[in-house]
Amino acid sequence: MGASTSLKIDEMALPPTVALAASALAKRLEAGDRAEEVIVELAELGQIRQKGLEDHRTNGAVFTPYSVAEELVGEVGINARDIVCDPSVGPGVFLLAVAEHKFQQGEAVPSIIESLRGIDIDPVTVEVARITLQLWALWRGEEWLTVDHLIVGDALLDIPADWFGGCDVVIGNPPFLGQLKSETVRNPIRAQTLKEKFGNRYTAYLDESMLFLLLGVELTGERGTVALILPASLLGSDSSRLAREWIDSTLPLRDLWVGGRSVFEVAAVEVVAPILREAQSRDCRVVSYESKKAIQVPAVSDGQWSRLLAALNGTPVVHLSNQVILSDHASVTADFRDAYYWLAERVTESDREDVRPRLATVGLIDPFRFMHGQVQTRFAKQKFDYPVIDIEGDPPPKLSKWLEQKLEPKLLVATQTQIVECYADPEGELLPSTPLLSVLPVEETQLWHLMAAVSSPAASAWLSCIAAGTGLSQTTIRIRASMLADLPLPLPSKSWDEGAYLARKIQEETVDEQTCIRFGEVMNQAYNAPSEALLRWWMEQLRKKQP
Ligand SMILES: C[S@@+](CC[C@H](N)C(=O)[O-])C[C@H]1O[C@@H](n2cnc3c(N)ncnc32)[C@H](O)[C@@H]1O
Repeated sequence: MGASTSLKIDEMALPPTVALAASALAKRLEAGDRAEEVIVELAELGQIRQKGLEDHRTNGAVFTPYSVAEELVGEVGINARDIVCDPSVGPGVFLLAVAEHKFQQGEAVPSIIESLRGIDIDPVTVEVARITLQLWALWRGEEWLTVDHLIVGDALLDIPADWFGGCDVVIGNPPFLGQLKSETVRNPIRAQTLKEKFGNRYTAYLDESMLFLLLGVELTGERGTVALILPASLLGSDSSRLAREWIDSTLPLRDLWVGGRSVFEVAAVEVVAPILREAQSRDCRVVSYESKKAIQVPAVSDGQWSRLLAALNGTPVVHLSNQVILSDHASVTADFRDAYYWLAERVTESDREDVRPRLATVGLIDPFRFMHGQVQTRFAKQKFDYPVIDIEGDPPPKLSKWLEQKLEPKLLVATQTQIVECYADPEGELLPSTPLLSVLPVEETQLWHLMAAVSSPAASAWLSCIAAGTGLSQTTIRIRASMLADLPLPLPSKSWDEGAYLARKIQEETVDEQTCIRFGEVMNQAYNAPSEALLRWWMEQLRKKQP
């Protein structure tokens, strides 16, 4: 590392707006400006770079506000002389916060600069990180230091061998690149290389950010601390399950920082930062950035990270015996896209007298209620008050089996919910549209018993614990068919019989709150989960759904 007293800013390597701001700041620092507010201007260089990016989506380049990086650095607890790496360093906001944190702990500026590592695929943004750290060193150390350990490359493939096992802390905000969108999907050659590198922890739909978390564990030699900001959906998504399980058996999740939805200005997405490290405690700390609420909960194992977010959301923990599960008594299916297009061509506005199959959408299903004709619904880019489906004429062979199945007695379950929203269709007269889930009982006589189980407080809490974070907001879950199929069922009992009777009564009659409470109580008994807290939580959510 070299040091010199005169500043040299490579203006050609930087975006003009950043070069301008950096030069102005450099002049003031050279003239002796040591104001504490300089940190804000240093962090601002990254935000200036953000504004100059034409498309932040393809590289997932959404930079972290300094206040967020600072808070996460504080949560992690970095020590003097720790080697710290940000594997998607961007404009260096995390390394800036780390540098400042270390400086406040008394570490010398040259030692701090020497301890920082960063890599990013975007060479221009790496230059922004470099000038940011150089200006910081000038501000805090009065020295113009060379920043060597910032490199350009694909972190998942190009990290220098000596960084592996050499980092004490890996921290940052990797690119969120979902694999269901064409603009962010991996190219096939890179996908194959990553598959070979990450082995059975890799799945085709795994978000790129989760690969960075796996990389982080490797960089610390499975012994340091890793804290990366990720989409909250990775706490419970199916595609990341194997990665979570591997992490739990390697460098366990010890704290969870919950950022919420308001962390980034340019992208509204629910985010969390799992903090992985060795720890003696068997408890895990979950802390909310927005509300500052912090709770201690038992640590999780086997990749069940959603449970921690569910606990922060106030969801009671339930332990259900899985001797018998829903798929033993029913088939649980999601509809396919072809069915959607077929329905879209046949949907028509009608009225109450019409006997044709009615269209069911997620927006029309509430707990125990189907609001057809009561609220407007959107389907195939149109609004309908009373949508029915014209099924005259033979459907294509692929769809005739689907149609036959769907016009049978079934349960319909909405997929983006706080508690399970389920409606029974005993006559088989509703046609569901994706993403509604259908539960088709093996025995028709079981319909109301299955309705009671799926609608019970225990089922809602169980699903929340395995899928918190997967919905569009922190408190909603996205129920997948495979998850619902695994729902444990109660053993036969009088309580379950009464629950089935009450579920039918709640759906078919206008009922008072007492009947709902009684339903919750008997289903808690049926599930052997007689908890006041569970019932209270479920009733609170249910009341929000009452007209
Ligand atoms: C979400 S931004 C975060 C940047 C910075 N850590 C921060 O918090 O402000 C993600 C960064 O990852 C970079 N990036 C995307 N794919 C990468 C890859 N395969 N290897 C290294 N960096 C990558 C982008 O250029 C972008 O700067």
